[in-house]
Amino acid sequence: MLGKIKATTGFIKEKTGFNGKIAIVLGSGLGGFADKVDIESTLDYAEIPNFPVTTVEGHSGKLIFGKVSGKNVVVMQGRFHYYEGYSMEELTFPVRVFKMLGIENYLLSNAAGGINPLFAVGDLMMIKDHINFFGRNPLIGKNMDELGPRFPDMTNAYNPGLRNLAKEIAKNNNLTLREGVYVGLTGPSFETPAEYRFFHSVGGDAVGMSTVPEVIVANHMKMKVFGVSVITNNGLDIAEDGNKHTEVLDVAAVAGPKTELLFSKLIEKI
Ligand code: HPA
Repeated sequence: MLGKIKATTGFIKEKTGFNGKIAIVLGSGLGGFADKVDIESTLDYAEIPNFPVTTVEGHSGKLIFGKVSGKNVVVMQGRFHYYEGYSMEELTFPVRVFKMLGIENYLLSNAAGGINPLFAVGDLMMIKDHINFFGRNPLIGKNMDELGPRFPDMTNAYNPGLRNLAKEIAKNNNLTLREGVYVGLTGPSFETPAEYRFFHSVGGDAVGMSTVPEVIVANHMKMKVFGVSVITNNGLDIAEDGNKHTEVLDVAAVAGPKTELLFSKLIEKI
């Protein structure tokens, strides 16, 4: 595993000469952020040794290297989901590579179903904590001591400093930024009405099918994490014709400019 991480990192360094501290993962329908990047180079996942390849509609797979707000960034356009059939180790492989590339800040977005009655469709929710409902943990197996400890602390899994910066940015830009707990689960089926109510009753504010494995691995390696969920549907008040992936993508796209503004300003201040 360590050999693979080193080989992939070496490949990326040689191809791009990348030297930066910020990685950004674009979730469902938020690919528009890529337009904010002064692109210097790109690598398709398919050409990167040991990288998995995405399969889900609405995600294209490439790494984009360039500048946002004058800072060097690597952007992951298209992420890997557990429901696609990857192992936890495979889908968190890019996070391992980022760390070895020198990344210190791991910023991500995702689409999620709202289960806080005060949230509206289209809202942005800054993730302050998560609940792992995948029934798996990406750190199961022999610990790689070179990368991080056997029992990593998760008390501040979503970096408080970055969250404070984002709050300040939201305030100064008249942006409504909710805050809440993200419940991560495998999917790919959406939740039943009883499940949405259950996840709300145990302390969740939004549910989604990504993020948690990557955030655990990022914390294992002491990276600072910042995450935002776009609330694409209301789990407590489900539309008459049910939940649809196309609607999730539509709402995520409409909320795109707000996420883009928040991320650009945050990157400026990191
Ligand atoms: N459940 C799980 N994942 C999601 C949802 C949802 O309601 N909406 C967007 N991603």
